[in-house]
Amino acid sequence: MNSFDEEIAKAVAATGAFDAGQAKKLITVPADTEHGNFTLPCFSLARSLHKAPKLIAEELAPKIVLPTGLSKVEAVSGYLNFFIDRKFLANSILAEIDKEGLSYGHISPNGKTVCIDYSSPNIGKELAFHHLRSTMIGNSLSRIYKASGYKVERINHLGDWGTAFGKLIVMYLREKLPTDKKTLDALTVKELNVLYASFSKACEAEPGLEDEARTAFSKLESGDEFYRTLWTAFRAATLRELMRIYDMMGVSFDHYTGESFYEDKMPAVIEELRKKGLMVRSEERDVVMLDEFDLPPCLIRKSDGSTLYATRDLAAAIYRKKEYNFDKSLYVVDLGQALHFKQVFHVLKKMGRDWYTDMEHIPFGVILQQSEDGKWEKGKTRTGHAKLLRDVIEAAQAKILAFINEKNPDLENKEIIAREIGISAITFNDLKNHRLMDVKFDWDSALSFDGATGPYVQNAHVRLCSIMRKAGYDARIEDVDFALLTDESAYELIKTLTKKAERIRQACETDEPSVLAQYSLEIAEAAHKFIHDDRVLGSAEEKSRLFLVKSTQIVLEDVLNLLGLFPVRVM
Ligand code: ARG
Repeated sequence: MNSFDEEIAKAVAATGAFDAGQAKKLITVPADTEHGNFTLPCFSLARSLHKAPKLIAEELAPKIVLPTGLSKVEAVSGYLNFFIDRKFLANSILAEIDKEGLSYGHISPNGKTVCIDYSSPNIGKELAFHHLRSTMIGNSLSRIYKASGYKVERINHLGDWGTAFGKLIVMYLREKLPTDKKTLDALTVKELNVLYASFSKACEAEPGLEDEARTAFSKLESGDEFYRTLWTAFRAATLRELMRIYDMMGVSFDHYTGESFYEDKMPAVIEELRKKGLMVRSEERDVVMLDEFDLPPCLIRKSDGSTLYATRDLAAAIYRKKEYNFDKSLYVVDLGQALHFKQVFHVLKKMGRDWYTDMEHIPFGVILQQSEDGKWEKGKTRTGHAKLLRDVIEAAQAKILAFINEKNPDLENKEIIAREIGISAITFNDLKNHRLMDVKFDWDSALSFDGATGPYVQNAHVRLCSIMRKAGYDARIEDVDFALLTDESAYELIKTLTKKAERIRQACETDEPSVLAQYSLEIAEAAHKFIHDDRVLGSAEEKSRLFLVKSTQIVLEDVLNLLGLFPVRVM
């Protein structure tokens, strides 16, 4: 139901006054429905017709044959205002939702593939709170692209290779920790975190330690078996904890191909760069010059022969193109890495991979938290003060659980529901604004049941579910009298439901989950208002209104899904 403007354009063109294409471009949706649902200004015709726009509109109005679904056209001060037939609209939209269910507004497979690289934490340490952003924006985008017809390859480019592992190895050995298989198998990420912190601390007194770590990584890279055993154990320990958190958050991936995966794929890239004469020696390192793009050189290989982050991203990009033949390849990574991606994309351009234009960095702002003196600041990971994501999730869960214990202590599975509401609340707080904006996080506003929050939206969903449960029967379209769904609140709610396909399209085109977060608020608001104004259960209109409740629940559930929020049914 998105072609009203097209139908109106055709009807107006049939009078001979407008060209259909021109009319379609001029049609807008007035802010106030008193001026109709669509309006067409006639000012552009004044010159050619030598007439006042007011007169043109008045003469045209009676000549227009209204397309189905519209109830009237009015000429007002040079505008043609078109009004939708509310009953027709209710019927057509609700029938569509009834038929398509959760996938109402989705696009069927378009044969295109998108790779989405998200979350991709550096392992060896736990997920910090700031990892939430890439994880949840990427998770939502992967769902939005799927709903938009794409085949989606969800990739976790784990940072499981690099000097960081040299640091862990150095520290592990320095502290003379046991290296038997049993101990290594039981290693936890908590222990690794402690090692990290003590490495940073030790470096303050002994700056030479950084070099030792680099040497250790080179040794790992050149295949040292013992180091390899340690690395494998570190990786496995972090992955176990990572999976536990992803499971809890409802996040998943198709590929856990981390940086180490490209170890054996880098020599070919380096060879190609060399053969094409793109690699030059600078300060004992191999680099690709990018002066012509006003970019600093891209580092490919250090003096000790070890490879870099960019080298692995080059190998990864080429691998993804070969393996998935993507039409688009997205990197959901913080704004701080903008230069890195520009460099990688431009090296690929120089290598003659003309598909480099299909790759896109999807940046986002940082999470800010308030310090004791009230200043908003970025959390610090290195020094170990940063909040861990799992602590934030646990705290959110505890706060919501306290609320449930107060209001609804007998709720079944309340621990799980509290966790789902808590995770959704911090996720919503993250997704509700344009991704490039920094996110201010404070508990009171994120967890509030009022305002633009996750709990507010989930509460609307819970209310809809509760009405359906209390009715005790399944509403059926055969029992609906659409004329009973034309009052203002019902009409406003139905109009909101019509926007789903358009909002998914916008979210996909701009890579902005916030479009759907805002849409979920719109639905929640219209639903709350409808439930408040139009009594459902026990009213003469019960069966019709219940069907609208059910349709709204279906639309809201899917929008929550697309955002990666849990559509809880009770709270
Ligand atoms: N591991 C990196 C980090 O935590 C992010 C990786 C993003 N993806 C990529 N293909 N470079 O900063």
